[in-house]
Amino acid sequence: MVKIGIIVHSQTNNTYSVAEKLQKKLQKSGNEVNIETVNMVGGNKPQSEDIQIENPPDVTGYDGLIFGSPVHAFSLAPAMKIYLEQIQSLQDKKVALYVTKSLPLKFTGGNRAIGQMEKICKSKGGNIVGSDIVIWRGDIDKNINALTQKFSLIF
Ligand SMILES: Cc1cc2nc3c(=O)[nH]c(=O)nc-3n(C[C@H](O)[C@H](O)[C@H](O)COP(=O)(O)O)c2cc1C
Repeated sequence: MVKIGIIVHSQTNNTYSVAEKLQKKLQKSGNEVNIETVNMVGGNKPQSEDIQIENPPDVTGYDGLIFGSPVHAFSLAPAMKIYLEQIQSLQDKKVALYVTKSLPLKFTGGNRAIGQMEKICKSKGGNIVGSDIVIWRGDIDKNINALTQKFSLIF
């Protein structure tokens, strides 16, 4: 059995709701799956330069990790960037990444945010096994199901 941590930053529940669906799907295939959240000291301050993470989730107990974040200002949300940067090691861990975003088209910050996450996770020794972008418009359930299906084949 694989122990998977889904670690998300979410300000208006979109990214978190994807994590819940992923958790269900990955549990069905026999994995132990926890969701943990990345929160800022003092609540959400998306524009702040001075972000500190409250009790950063510990990755050491997980074999696989899924990091999820919203796109903010055409980039990775700052809280997730700061959280990922302070992780000591992702050596020998499978890592999958996703972002949620509201603007149509993946290049309005989605690809860039995934690229930022990939770069940081690789620098910590993580083995990037997949990524996806969920656009929060149109048939959202269809977009989420595509992600959960894709990730269930990875872990
Ligand atoms: C400060 C801020 C900046 C945002 N910038 C972008 C953006 O550049 N591109 C985009 O597609 N969506 C952008 N969004 C929309 C969010 O990425 C989208 O609503 C996301 O699903 C929110 O996730 P959450 O509910 O987990 O916080 C922005 C939202 C906020 C609050």
